[in-house]
Formats: sequence, structure tokens, C-alpha cells
Amino acid sequence: MPLDLTILVGTMTGKAQLVAQEIELMLDDGDTRVQTRMMDGLGAEAFAAGGLFLVCTSTYGQGDVPDNAKALYESLLTVRPDLSSVQYGVVALGDRTYKDTFCNGGRRFDAILSELGAKRIGDILFHDASSHMLPEEAAVEWVGPWMERVREQVDVEA
Ligand SMILES: Cc1cc2nc3c(=O)[nH]c(=O)nc-3n(C[C@H](O)[C@H](O)[C@H](O)COP(=O)(O)O)c2cc1C
Repeated sequence: MPLDLTILVGTMTGKAQLVAQEIELMLDDGDTRVQTRMMDGLGAEAFAAGGLFLVCTSTYGQGDVPDNAKALYESLLTVRPDLSSVQYGVVALGDRTYKDTFCNGGRRFDAILSELGAKRIGDILFHDASSHMLPEEAAVEWVGPWMERVREQVDVEA
């Protein structure tokens, strides 16, 4: 049975969007149906139908989510929906130069989603913009094993 994955993109200068596009290209093969959505204009209802999500977001300001992710993040904090039917992964883009707030955008989403009952699958991918590796390369390496974890989970629950 095909697996539906929604990638939610929080970005300022487009790197997280590029990451999402590469992941979609890699995964969208009939077995997995991928829909990528920019976070602009989204609120907590984006998670209402439940299912599998990949939050792909960078970090700005002083460890904040990017501007286009703010409404969604704030909405989760205030509406506080029950997300027990949501499973998710996180690709967090940041820069270790900001050592106290490294990848906090992704960490913030992880914290609120798990607080609301959603279940994270696998470890967060933390990408460091000051490293030698491009975020889309790191993401393509990370997402294969992540999807294996997802499929194991789906089999356990079937
Ligand atoms: C003004 C500014 C503030 C930033 N603040 C942080 C931060 O607090 N923590 C962090 O880990 N990265 C921080 N970054 C790094 C970005 O998150 C990183 O470059 C990321 O790859 C950008 O992805 P995007 O193009 O999808 O927005 C900052 C970058 C800029 C330009």
C-alpha cells in the first residue's frame, strides 16, 4: 500500500526547499507519495488529517523558526491540537557558528509536536551550514534509513 508523506518546508533563503525537492525526487516512486508544502499560510490544521510528516526547516534570528514557519509554529502552541495520529521526522538546517541556538528551528518543531502527542520516527538530521556537506546531500543520505524506520513502524502497526 502506498505511503503518503507530507513535507512541510520552513525556509528563508531556499535551502530547506531544495532539500525537500531532492527528498521528493528520491522518494516519490509510487510506493511513497510525497507532497511538499511551503509552511506559508499554514496553521495547526495542516496536521488535522494525521499521517506521516517531514518537517524540513532552517533557523533564524536567535534560534527562531524562519518567518514563513512562524504562523504554523505559533498556531501549534496556541491551538494545541491532539496530534496522536501524527508521525514525523525532522530535517533541521542551521549553522554551528550559532552555537547556543544550533538548529533550534527544527528542535522547536520537534518539541511542540512531541508535546502534542505526535510520534517522532528516527533521529533528527542536524545540518551544519559551516560544514563541507551540502544540506541536500546530507538529506538524501539520511532519508533512506529514515524511510526504512518508517516502514518498520508501519509494519508493526499493521
Ligand atoms: C541572520 C541569520 C540568523 C541565523 N540564525 C541561526 C541560528 O540561530 N541557529 C542556527 O543553527 N543557524 C542559524 N542561521 C543559519 C541558517 O539556519 C542556515 O544557513 C540554513 O542553512 C539556511 O537555510 P534556508 O535557506 O532554508 O533558510 C542563521 C542564518 C542567518 C543568515
